[in-house]
Amino acid sequence: MTESNQPFIELRGLSKEFMHRGKYLQVLRDVDFRIFAGDQIAIMGPSGAGKSTLLQLLGTLDTPTSGQMLWNGEDVFSRRKAVLAGLRNREIGFVFQFHHLLPEFTALENVMMPGLIGRMGKRAAESRGKELLEMVGLKERVHHQPGELSGGEQQRVAIARALFREPRLLLADEPTGNLDLRTAAGIHAILRELNETTGVTVVIVTHDPSLAENMPIRVLVDQGRLIPQHPGDPNVAGRIPEELMNARPQDPGQLRLVEAVSDGDSTTTQGPS
Ligand SMILES: Nc1ncnc2c1ncn2[C@@H]1O[C@H](COP(=O)(O)OP(=O)(O)OP(=O)(O)O)[C@@H](O)[C@H]1O
Ligand SMILES: [Mg+2]
Repeated sequence: MTESNQPFIELRGLSKEFMHRGKYLQVLRDVDFRIFAGDQIAIMGPSGAGKSTLLQLLGTLDTPTSGQMLWNGEDVFSRRKAVLAGLRNREIGFVFQFHHLLPEFTALENVMMPGLIGRMGKRAAESRGKELLEMVGLKERVHHQPGELSGGEQQRVAIARALFREPRLLLADEPTGNLDLRTAAGIHAILRELNETTGVTVVIVTHDPSLAENMPIRVLVDQGRLIPQHPGDPNVAGRIPEELMNARPQDPGQLRLVEAVSDGDSTTTQGPS
């Protein structure tokens, strides 16, 4: 883990609300969070807490209701859409619970896909694809199609594909959610190893405490805030605000419903007062 004073990514007062049956559902509330280059972070929290929402924002796949996200000090969401898409394609790799591999292509072709889309030469893409498959331990499986691979192997192909363009940030949303614990542990080990060998910053959402235990930095999404999984955990220091360092989880899963505010429109039915 390398650390400098300047965070790689900084969330400042980031909030996200969704409109839900005429009311705003506040999922993330004034989140301040700093990620340093090379961090390995596990994000945990009950279902519906906002983990995927947070990951989508980190991946610039969604925009916040308010607040900022800085990349090396630069406000990301103020950039033009095309610039943002460029940043996303170049700098961010995504791995999801379901791998989304193309079934009619081989492992190698799936991994090469970002290169081919990016108009890289076929030879170069192939050699980079092979190198990555070797890195995730699939040297002997390059010509297998997804249907000819185990669940864990498919997920390793997805990881290799996510790394194709050498992203600086790898975001994984429950990448092992549909794998048995042993296979899942293997995937986590690979992600940690990639972090150590390539320096890629890794943020993983996981439900599994035993997998999260292996990640050096563990935070919970709780009541729309980010708090340390273990109050006072020194590994989290400097990444979340000091006043939240000793916070403990509150009532899990209780999201805040905020009344919709509408100018002069009183059609929203209110209960008897
Ligand atoms: N587009 C949307 N519109 C309205 N509400 C949404 C939308 N996306 C998410 N939500 C709500 O926001 C809350 C947080 O969702 P999110 O997917 O981030 O949860 P999560 O922590 O990833 O849960 P899980 O562990 O089940 O994947 C949920 O209550 C969800 O219903
Ligand atoms: Mg989720």
